[in-house]
Amino acid sequence: MSKILGILGSPHSYGGSGSLLRCALLAAQELGFETELVELYRERIEPCRGCVQDEEPTCKYPCIFEDYGREILFKLREADGYIVASPVYWYAPSGPLKILIDRMTALENMVAFGEPSYVEGKAVGVITVGADAGATLAGAYLLTVLNAMGAIIPPWAHAYSHRGKEALFDDRAVMDAINVGRLVAGLLLRVRGQNGPLTYLDDPDLRDRIRTAVLEEKRRWEAQYGSERLSLCGKSGA
Ligand SMILES: Cc1cc2nc3c(=O)[nH]c(=O)nc-3n(C[C@H](O)[C@H](O)[C@H](O)COP(=O)(O)O)c2cc1C
Repeated sequence: MSKILGILGSPHSYGGSGSLLRCALLAAQELGFETELVELYRERIEPCRGCVQDEEPTCKYPCIFEDYGREILFKLREADGYIVASPVYWYAPSGPLKILIDRMTALENMVAFGEPSYVEGKAVGVITVGADAGATLAGAYLLTVLNAMGAIIPPWAHAYSHRGKEALFDDRAVMDAINVGRLVAGLLLRVRGQNGPLTYLDDPDLRDRIRTAVLEEKRRWEAQYGSERLSLCGKSGA
């Protein structure tokens, strides 16, 4: 079965970007795709050490580090598409997501070893959530860099909100996120010669149904973990 990987660059599993990402993944599932969500704050990802600049480049998949970043590179190689969601931190994606992008050089740099970029042909969409300004800039950055690594982009590939952790109540952003999920899936179907959507769908019933499903998931998650955060904020010693 085809797989779409959700990459969450927020320390909040069900914050604004996490919630919209879950909407997008549910929409992709409705088109028959398997989905998986990876949270970048769950474990440390070593920053890129710039091997690509060495005289004899050693920058090669799966990268020199045997860490959580390598596990994610495996998943990125195997998935057919990605939906990347991030909070806006100073007009840009979050730090761990930028670190992952740098580490993705190991996928892209396979061109130096006579192979195609391992990102080539992956269908991608992005979601960015801020509380003020910069969501479009951060999203544009993500789409540009993923495309520069070889990814393909469907129409309406960027959903964003400026409503911070309340983004799940931003009707337009929820509909946009659902479209990111269905259009990434739709592009993958089209590339394989199958029928798939490539036009924006405005469907308040679908929007409300998917939002309710994410809210229910969030309630179950809060009942189990009792907290919004993966980070150490507020804990002693943090
Ligand atoms: C370090 C930091 C920088 C931030 N910079 C911006 C910014 O430039 N623009 C903005 O709109 N919001 C900014 N915010 C607010 C976050 O984007 C906002 O809280 C958002 O809800 C976080 O997404 P999340 O709920 O998915 O974690 C910043 C927050 C932090 C912690």
